[in-house]
Amino acid sequence: MRDRIHICEGAEALASHAATWLVDLMVHHFETSDAPFSLALSGGSTPKRLYQRLGELPAGRVDWSRVVLLWGDERNVPADHADSNFRMVQENLLDHIDIPASNVWAVPNPGGPADEAAAKYQDWLLERLPRADNSMPQIDCVLLGMGDDVHTASLFPGSRALAEQSRAVVENRVEKLDTWRVTLTAPAINAARHVAFLIAGAGKQPALDSLWHGALDPEKYPSQLIRPQAGQLWFLLDRAAIGSLETPAPATVEVIAPS
Ligand code: 6PG
Repeated sequence: MRDRIHICEGAEALASHAATWLVDLMVHHFETSDAPFSLALSGGSTPKRLYQRLGELPAGRVDWSRVVLLWGDERNVPADHADSNFRMVQENLLDHIDIPASNVWAVPNPGGPADEAAAKYQDWLLERLPRADNSMPQIDCVLLGMGDDVHTASLFPGSRALAEQSRAVVENRVEKLDTWRVTLTAPAINAARHVAFLIAGAGKQPALDSLWHGALDPEKYPSQLIRPQAGQLWFLLDRAAIGSLETPAPATVEVIAPS
């Protein structure tokens, strides 16, 4: 399936477009399925404005009772810690939408033993989500960011999780940050129906260049592991992130007009 690339003028336009894109995805799902729409959220700073835009939608624009939210990765800190991805989503989205608590699937016991949290989270997802052909839990949409070092989720260069092929969620030691993370694995992400990188800022251009045009070296460029098995891969970018980079072939490229 051809990658779909959307290019927006700036970070604000990107957040606005990404919110529209995601709402359209959810509404289409609601029209075609009785199952809840499962959405794996990315951490970091880039998606904050997207989450705020989702929280600003008119009441009823999204029936959040038909959406389950999960996390693509989590830092090994308590849920009220400044570095917590759960807290970031809570402040920018959860506090602003009417979603049942039972639809918010946070990584359990963050800050506790990462291996136990990963195992519990994996069991939780396997019990509640359908299975994809690779027997991974099938998520409807996984939102991803990308670090300057071409990591995504908590799949960092040279880390053990990059090689994981059978587990959906693992603990991952990130030496350069001297910390543990809990993360979806590449097979779990690649089982999703839609995987969308949300990338903004000129600072990400070299990483995007490495992802698209660097040597095929997932140990060095982990985002290269992200190739949905049967799902659609999206790149929701601002102009600064793509700059004058050539898009990978084959890809469908759309320049999104300012709304
Ligand atoms: C995290 C994210 C991580 C993030 C990238 C980009 O927990 O930090 O899941 O993968 O998406 O590091 O982060 P920024 O959006 O802050 O550049």
